[in-house]
Amino acid sequence: MERLHKYLARAGVASRRKAEKLMLAGKVQVNGQTVCKLGSLVDAEHDEVCIEGQKLSLPKQHQYFILYKPRGTITTLADPQGRPCIGDWLRKKHGRVYPVGRLDYDTEGALLLTDDGDLVNRLLMPRFQIPRSYVAKVRGQPSPEALQQLCKGVVIGEERPAQALRAKLHCVLKANSWVVLTVTEGRYHLVKRMFAAIGHPVLALFRPAQAGISVLNMYPGQLRALTQEECVLLKAVALGHSRPPLVVGLPIRKR
Ligand code: URA
Repeated sequence: MERLHKYLARAGVASRRKAEKLMLAGKVQVNGQTVCKLGSLVDAEHDEVCIEGQKLSLPKQHQYFILYKPRGTITTLADPQGRPCIGDWLRKKHGRVYPVGRLDYDTEGALLLTDDGDLVNRLLMPRFQIPRSYVAKVRGQPSPEALQQLCKGVVIGEERPAQALRAKLHCVLKANSWVVLTVTEGRYHLVKRMFAAIGHPVLALFRPAQAGISVLNMYPGQLRALTQEECVLLKAVALGHSRPPLVVGLPIRKR
């Protein structure tokens, strides 16, 4: 239940103060009854609210979720062959949401899900160049020159070369290392092909955050709704008003 004047404001009728004036003027009906009393409550899902006989409806509220996609899952809502897929983590209550882009079968980490098509377009359209950061475990230890080469551009097949915005060593293991790579596009197997091009094949790939929304405190397979603050950040990033904060960390079992 919520206050009627708030509901009217959410429905785009008027500001909350003006909505109260409309109520006092006897212009608002709930389930056919005129409601003048300030502070009256309404059930947005079940009550019918009218202004001078005109039925109101609320603008659609979009849904935003973040999934920690585990390794060994396909970025699809349903797989006809019954392979593990991200749809396995969705329930009816989550509504009809879609993944924002895709991660490879063996890549794990942050994957946004939403029914907000405009936001998806903004986040994925190459011309908006929204940075995407990955942490890759690669064979050997790339030299500073090799990392610099990633930023200058590398040939990854017949298409145009690929360029990183940032390439930085995160930590060094015995025979391998973890490298943070930021790119601004989403070509097929992009990160893997870029590291292959400098002679350091990817052994494991993790995306700690998507558009600044982090999975660092989550476990593989966990799905949660974004907080209010995260929704604000996501929209600011999608609209180009802020850059996604760089989130760096290793997959949970590797800590
Ligand atoms: N680049 C890749 O190679 N794989 C992914 O899953 C994401 C980016």
